[in-house]
Amino acid sequence: TRRQFLLGGAVAGVGAAAAVGGDTALRAAAGETPPEPLNGDRTVPFHGTHQAGVATDAQAHGLFVALDLLDGTDRADLVRMMRILTDDAARLTQGEPALADSEPELAVAPARLTVTFGFGPGFVERAQGRGPDWLRPLPAFGIDRLDPQFCAGDLLLQIAADDPLTVAHAARMLLKDTRSFAAVRWSQQGFRRAHGTERPGTTMRNLFGQVDGTSNPVPGTADFDRVVWSDAGWLFGGTGMVVRRIGMDLDTWDRLDRGGREQSVGRYLGNGAPLTGREEHDEPDFEATTAIGFPVIPEFSHVRRARGEPHERIFRRSYNYDDRPVGAAISRSGLIFVSFQADVDRQFVPVQRRLDRLDLLNEWTIPVGSAVFAVPPGCAEGGFVGETLLT
Ligand code: HEM
Repeated sequence: TRRQFLLGGAVAGVGAAAAVGGDTALRAAAGETPPEPLNGDRTVPFHGTHQAGVATDAQAHGLFVALDLLDGTDRADLVRMMRILTDDAARLTQGEPALADSEPELAVAPARLTVTFGFGPGFVERAQGRGPDWLRPLPAFGIDRLDPQFCAGDLLLQIAADDPLTVAHAARMLLKDTRSFAAVRWSQQGFRRAHGTERPGTTMRNLFGQVDGTSNPVPGTADFDRVVWSDAGWLFGGTGMVVRRIGMDLDTWDRLDRGGREQSVGRYLGNGAPLTGREEHDEPDFEATTAIGFPVIPEFSHVRRARGEPHERIFRRSYNYDDRPVGAAISRSGLIFVSFQADVDRQFVPVQRRLDRLDLLNEWTIPVGSAVFAVPPGCAEGGFVGETLLT
C-alpha cells in the first residue's frame, strides 16, 4: 500500500517529507522538488475539545446516516459501541485502516475525513441520561411535508471527506461496528463543489445557483463559539444539530426571471451581495427603500425573514443533493440543510417559525425530512465520544 511505501521512504531518510504523504516523500528521495501535498493525504485531527466536522471547513462530500438502536441494546452496549466507533473513526480519519478493515487499501487516503456523532432522544433515554430540553422532534411547521423515511433517529453519523470513495469506505467500516447494536434508519448523501474546483474559502452554492452560507458565524471566532458550543452538563463542548431535507423545485424555479429570484432571497445571484450592496459580505441595509418607497430587500425575502435577534443565530453547514427524477420531472434536488447551534429551541426554532409564516422561497422549497441530535463534545486519546453521558 502507499503507507507501506511511505514507511520505506522514511527508513531511507526522508522522514521529514513523510508527514505530507507517500508520493511527496518518494519524489523528495528521487531529488525532485516536492509537489504540493496530495489532497488525499490531508487529515483533520480527530481528538480534541470539540468533535471535528462542525467547525471544519466543509468537505466536498457529506454522508448522513441515522440509526435506530436495536431493542436489546442497553447502556453497557452503548459504551461498547461508542468505544469501537470512536476507535475506528480516529484511525480512519488519520489514514489508518479500521481495526478489522476488510479493505485497508481504501483507508490510506483520508482526504480530510471527519466523523461526527450525534445522539437522538432515544439514545439519551437508553443511556438513562437526561437530554437537553430541545432534544426532541421539532414542532410541526405548516410548510412541512415530512416523509418518515427521512426523519428522527437514535444515532447520527456525519461522515465527510473530499473524496467520495473515502466516505463510502468509512461508512461501511463504521456500520460494521454498529451492526449488533443498531440498524440504519435513513441515509442521505450530499455534495458541494469538488475539492480544488474553487479557491478555499469560497462560499458554497446550492442548486438554485445561490451563494449559500454568507451570513454565517466564522469558525475560530468568539462569535462562532458562542453560537455553536453548548455549556450545559454532559453536552459541554458539544452542540445541537438540526438536519432538514428540503426539496427544491428547480423545474418551477426555472420559470422565475433573474430579478424575481434575487428578490426572493434579497441577494444578487452573481456574487451573493445583498440587494443594497456590491460585495458578498456587505451588510444588508434593511431600511433602504426604492424611489417609490418599497423596501429594496423585500419584506418576503428569505434573508430578511431569516435574520433574527442576536440570540437566534445558527451556523449552517448544508450539502446539496440531486436524486433521480420521477415521472415527468427532470429534477429531484434539494438541500440537506444542516445547522449547528448550542440551543435548538432558542436559536433554530424561532427562525424556522418566522420562515414558516412568510418566506417567498417557500414557493419552491419543501421540507421532507427532519431530525434533531445532540452532538457530544470531542474526546482525548484513550477516551471515547459520548463518555460524558455514558460514564
Ligand atoms: C440565508 C438559501 C433554508 C436560515 C440564506 C441565503 C440563501 C439561503 C441563498 C443568503 C446567503 C447566506 O447568508 O447564506 C436557502 C435555501 C433553503 C434555505 C435554498 C432551503 C432549501 C433555510 C432554513 C433556515 C435558513 C430552513 C433556518 C430555519 C437562514 C439564515 C440565513 C439564511 C439564518 C442568514 C440570514 C441573515 O442574513 O442573517 N439562505 N435557505 N435557511 N438562511 Fe437560508
